[in-house]
Amino acid sequence: MKLDVFTLFPEWFEWFESQRHVRNCVAEGSELRFLNYRETTPLSAGQVDDSPYGGGAGMVMRVDVVDAALQAAYGDSRAGRRIVLLTPSGRMFDEELAVELAAEPQLTLLCGRYEGVDERVRDHLVTDAVSIGRYVLAGGELAAMVVADAVLRKLPGALGHAQSAHEESFSAALDGDPEYPHYTRPPLYKRWGVPDVLLSGDHALVDEWRRERSRERGARQEPGA
Ligand code: 6GU
Repeated sequence: MKLDVFTLFPEWFEWFESQRHVRNCVAEGSELRFLNYRETTPLSAGQVDDSPYGGGAGMVMRVDVVDAALQAAYGDSRAGRRIVLLTPSGRMFDEELAVELAAEPQLTLLCGRYEGVDERVRDHLVTDAVSIGRYVLAGGELAAMVVADAVLRKLPGALGHAQSAHEESFSAALDGDPEYPHYTRPPLYKRWGVPDVLLSGDHALVDEWRRERSRERGARQEPGA
């Protein structure tokens, strides 16, 4: 996957890039770029924002600045590229969308700062607007890292064990339910034991137990439950 993130703080992503599963993706051929809107702004002195029409507090990211950044990176060949604006009013990010985005050969994430981004960015420059939850962050960078993290770990070779992304929370293998509980040694800690079935060596019984626990957790988390 070719993943580009546009931000005013590319250096924040140095930590992100250093994660094992991200490095694995790069080793497997993925290309990551973190691009600064200030480097391509058509305005003087690195200006990227302006005061809102109609008045009000805060500053708004300008549409010409975002367009110039995309133009510098892609020229006129944006067609077919998934361009996602991170915004609290976007479509809620979930496992299904992570799977969908992981299938894209080319993905772009646009981080906004300030009070917001000129609405013409959403209307004319992007294919998607995505939110990571019903709360407001100071900017889209952490949201972009959340999305990039969830997407990249889906790529082949990202995780050490091919199996570990298969039977995990919300996967098709678990019918979209959360993951079952895990246990490891010691079998007894203080007075806290491990379910006997997991120590039984009976794989069919273990599978059945896990599926049930997973379903239970799914039922508990259903809206209104
Ligand atoms: Cl994508 N951006 C910001 N600024 N806040 C958020 C968000 C995104 N998703 C939830 N809150």
